[in-house]
Amino acid sequence: MVKDSPAPDTSEGDVNLSPLRRAWERDHVRGATRALLDRDGAAYLHQSLSTPCFDALVEAEGIWLTDVDGRRFMDFHGNNVHQVGYRHPRVIDAVKRQLDTLPFSPRRFTNTAAVELAERLGALAPDPLGKVLLAPGGTLAIGMALKLARVATGRHKTISMWDAFHGASLDAISIGGEAMFRRDIGPLLPGAEHVPPCDPRACTFGCGGTCDARCADYVDYVLGKEQDVAAVIVETVRCTDVQIPPPAYYKRLRDACDRHGALLILDEVPIGLGRTGTMFAFERYGIVPDMVVLGKGLGGAVFPMAALIARRDLDVAGDRALGHYTHEKSSVGCAAALATLDVIADEGLCERARELGAHALDRMHALADRHPLVGDVRGVGLLLGLELNRQDGSPAREEAERVMYGCLARGLSFKVGQGNVIALSPPLVIARDDLDRAFDILDEALSDVGRPH
Ligand SMILES: Cc1ncc(COP(=O)(O)O)c(C=O)c1O
Repeated sequence: MVKDSPAPDTSEGDVNLSPLRRAWERDHVRGATRALLDRDGAAYLHQSLSTPCFDALVEAEGIWLTDVDGRRFMDFHGNNVHQVGYRHPRVIDAVKRQLDTLPFSPRRFTNTAAVELAERLGALAPDPLGKVLLAPGGTLAIGMALKLARVATGRHKTISMWDAFHGASLDAISIGGEAMFRRDIGPLLPGAEHVPPCDPRACTFGCGGTCDARCADYVDYVLGKEQDVAAVIVETVRCTDVQIPPPAYYKRLRDACDRHGALLILDEVPIGLGRTGTMFAFERYGIVPDMVVLGKGLGGAVFPMAALIARRDLDVAGDRALGHYTHEKSSVGCAAALATLDVIADEGLCERARELGAHALDRMHALADRHPLVGDVRGVGLLLGLELNRQDGSPAREEAERVMYGCLARGLSFKVGQGNVIALSPPLVIARDDLDRAFDILDEALSDVGRPH
């Protein structure tokens, strides 16, 4: 019987674990942690990047995670939910108060927190953006944007970018561009076309590192050929490997969408709400999309919350269900979100992201000077990326993984994007000393990898 079969060996037996991951488990995972990881691996369906896990947590506060064995990590990963850090007292107080009064708001009723949140988001976004829908997750909010684009334009085709990530549902992977999420899944949404992203260091159009926005002209070309595309969907700045298009890119994309009657949807799920130094990342480009999608940090590192903010005149689907999610107008989630927006404003977190981001870039350039492995340094606000390349210019994937484990062993957690980009997303509340300590750790880990082994 399936139920009585022995628990699978979740670590050593898993063919997907890299040798470095196995080494980490051998050297660092034992006792109570091992037992919990084994139970986790036995109880959950295994899936890439999720189960089996590599460690187990007991606490999160500020920029810190604490694991079962009492080890602490500065969290520069946090799935990008932690702009205000973990357990910000104002967020926790707001959530607790709401839990004690109105823990849930069934559909057909609204509540003060939900109304205030929609008003606040609508007011924060520049004109003509202004109307809001909430959802319990970024993927779902992307799905609502896709549906609204279809209803509003009467068209179904989309243009999105290779290498993009917009969530893991079938509609989101259809417009996403990472093979890992699309492979072997079967037919995806029809009409979901892909074009090369703006990626000056690996430009399909050969811009040679100095972007001349020819990739945006190509979007214009495809829009013109197709003639009936509903929407162009882009991550304003691609989060996984911190790809920052130049202003010309978005000017041309905006013009192309207007010329061809397509809507421009910007996905700012991981990068909105201050991370790039402005409330919305698109502000630095001097354009306004037709819709923007927020998520992750909106829930204050407590609650799953996402929002679609659309042009006011796109309120055209009153007789359809765009979202219809059980936890749509969550009183608790909205209370967390309102407190988060208050913290971002009152603690000047956008400004802080710009100031600390400039300092971080200095530290990253210094690392590039010291370590030949660092092939490129990118950053906007506190969304930071160090690209690691070998001498022949090829991606230094194994080295990036070694740097990651070297940093984890020293108490710094982050994500590696596209295999060779160290993507750093510290909480925006981080103290400058802690940020410096993180770069010291990176320096040490890069030195270790640079040494013969
Ligand atoms: C750019 C982007 N869009 C959408 C999503 C999906 O958000 P969620 O996981 O909350 O559904 C993510 C999640 O990582 C993301 O990075």
